[in-house]
Amino acid sequence: MSKTIPTRPGISNITPYVAGESKLGGKTQVIKLSSNEGAFGPSPKALEALAAAAKDVNLYPDAGSNALRAAIGEHFGLDPDRIVCGAGSDEIISLLCFAYAGPGDEVLYSEHGFLMYPISAHAAGATPVKAPESNLTTDVDAVLSCVTDNTRIVFIANPNNPTGTYLSAKEMKRLRDGLPQNVLLVIDAAYAEFVDQDDYNAGMDLVDAGQNTVMTRTFSKLFALGGLRVGWGYCPTEIADTLNRVRGPFNVSSAGQTAAIASLADQEFQDMSRQHTQDWRTKTEVALQALGLKTTNSVANFVLVEFKDAATAEGCDAYLRENGILVRRMNGYGLPSCLRISIGTGEQMETCLATIRLFLEDTL
Ligand SMILES: Cc1ncc(COP(=O)(O)O)c(C=O)c1O
Repeated sequence: MSKTIPTRPGISNITPYVAGESKLGGKTQVIKLSSNEGAFGPSPKALEALAAAAKDVNLYPDAGSNALRAAIGEHFGLDPDRIVCGAGSDEIISLLCFAYAGPGDEVLYSEHGFLMYPISAHAAGATPVKAPESNLTTDVDAVLSCVTDNTRIVFIANPNNPTGTYLSAKEMKRLRDGLPQNVLLVIDAAYAEFVDQDDYNAGMDLVDAGQNTVMTRTFSKLFALGGLRVGWGYCPTEIADTLNRVRGPFNVSSAGQTAAIASLADQEFQDMSRQHTQDWRTKTEVALQALGLKTTNSVANFVLVEFKDAATAEGCDAYLRENGILVRRMNGYGLPSCLRISIGTGEQMETCLATIRLFLEDTL
């Protein structure tokens, strides 16, 4: 009899990530509002660039994502040498855990934070630790009170997925100032482009201010390139150097690099998509509130809606599915009475809202 091969510590503690579904048995047409992927598909300019680049996919990609880093640097006003690209920001999150946390170390995140933080912490052999939230929002004092001598990394998604809430720039600075200098703060700004609040910024100033803060970003949300897996981190020089040592040499595909560069250049698409998202997240929250449901004033490209209990949320999800609509259950995030609804096209949102209304009328 062969023996099982032992894994590194922590791997068996991982609850595998459950992605948003895209198919429903028996339905040919599905409205997919389960993964925050953008309402309109990618920019037409990205699609054009992708088609033109297809004939070269026999060639390995640019190992340093040089043209992409230069384009990101120009678009956001950042030093390209301190940008590291990854196969989605998920890869940057996991590389940071591998590089900076291991057995005996703690990785801190907020109670309803993005699930890739505990998964990546476990994979690195470290211990994930949850700090309580207040009103489904990161609580800076609670995070600070969970810091121990073993804390190595603090991950804060800002805005957070799945709650849609955010920390102001002032609060984020208070968090940085309160953390020990040797603790890495990772500000995950995957949804930064959708925020229109004056007191928010994505955290680049905190990266520039020291040696211990990283900001991560993605092409999967506003730029709607989730299937190509392109993300990046903006880092202090030493951390960029570390990530470049541990990442795979060809970690971002040539298709991903090409499409991301073309999307960055399509400002019109970005503005249109941002405006649509902001308009529809407000309309959606107002409509849900009118049905007596609670929402969180999301600043991202999704809405979190709370039902009176878990059974009602589950019933509503089942009813939406029967009607060809996929949203996201929130049990894995410890929010079983909530559903997360991504902002889709106007027509999709109208259909989803009408279906929720019918469900509530039927269950009353
Ligand atoms: C908060 C947050 N961070 C990071 C990611 C990962 O994005 P990607 O790996 O597609 O760049 C997501 C994806 O949903 C997210 O919600």
